[in-house]
Amino acid sequence: VTKIGVLTSGGDAPGMNAAIRAVVRTGIYYGLEVFGIMRGYNGMLEDDIIPMNSRSVANIIQRGGTILKTARSKDFFETEGRKKAYANLKKYGIDGLVIIGGDGSFRGAQKFANEFDIPCIGIPGTIDKDMAGTDYTIGFDTAVNTAVEAIDKIRDTMDAHDRLFIVEVMGRDAGYIALHSGIATGAENILIPETKTDIEALIHSLTEKEKRKKLVNLIVVAEGEEFGGAEEIAKVIKERVPNADTRVCILGHIQRGGAPSCHDRLVASHMGYYAVESLLIGRHNVMVGVINNKIHYTPLDMAVKERQAIGQEWMKIVKILAS
Ligand code: F6P
Repeated sequence: VTKIGVLTSGGDAPGMNAAIRAVVRTGIYYGLEVFGIMRGYNGMLEDDIIPMNSRSVANIIQRGGTILKTARSKDFFETEGRKKAYANLKKYGIDGLVIIGGDGSFRGAQKFANEFDIPCIGIPGTIDKDMAGTDYTIGFDTAVNTAVEAIDKIRDTMDAHDRLFIVEVMGRDAGYIALHSGIATGAENILIPETKTDIEALIHSLTEKEKRKKLVNLIVVAEGEEFGGAEEIAKVIKERVPNADTRVCILGHIQRGGAPSCHDRLVASHMGYYAVESLLIGRHNVMVGVINNKIHYTPLDMAVKERQAIGQEWMKIVKILAS
């Protein structure tokens, strides 16, 4: 490998810039030429590829978003699209790729690597943490801390007004952001897609609280929760527990932005380094992950979306601590 390309793909996540920086600087250290591919796979298709040097990644480790921009490219999933992408990469002599993104991005990379002679290395970057083969994904820690900060603020006003709040957090079909932020903010209820929502039990507990005139209640719900999210839950609660002064807050995209946490910067720097090392030593078509604080490599086709089991003991602890 002599010339490598780096790109970010899928939803952006804080810490992606730290990963880009690590890939570029490690590559240069080992004598490689490094190119930045803009807007995910679209940059490969549209020949939007720029040479990078050490200075191109100066002063970005602390920035959210991604300097390479990102996209979810449909055309790359078509054979014709991948052919075009390959032809463009060849123009620059690029013979290795680092893809920072989620499982969708890695599926594309695996297809591409099967068809052409350009090895691909994945770095998990998603706030959702829904990947097999790693304990951390870049962006999760920052997103959770952003959610915690926001929910703490909601709790102040909730408490002042004796209100019931239903806060919806991101995570697509995974409940990690909800579970972690809910526990850390002392939520009375946490509703996630991994466990069945017992709406009757929820209504029952709220009715009991109503009897005790204690209706200050924080419910953190994951956007992918099977009942339909915060608005749906609120509809039922407003009908069945009409005395509760119920409000909904959907945190939305603020969870994707902001300066990455120290943890996300460290994980991104670590993974970026090992991604380049992998290309250099021929450890091809793997995702670089971290398991039990050790670097771990998973074949790209196995680095798929995974709903790691969320321990039932956590849900028990949530109940005990909120009672
Ligand atoms: O995968 C990251 C994520 O932020 C999910 O948590 C969320 O469901 C989705 O992306 C939102 O995507 P978009 O920014 O395209 O609306």
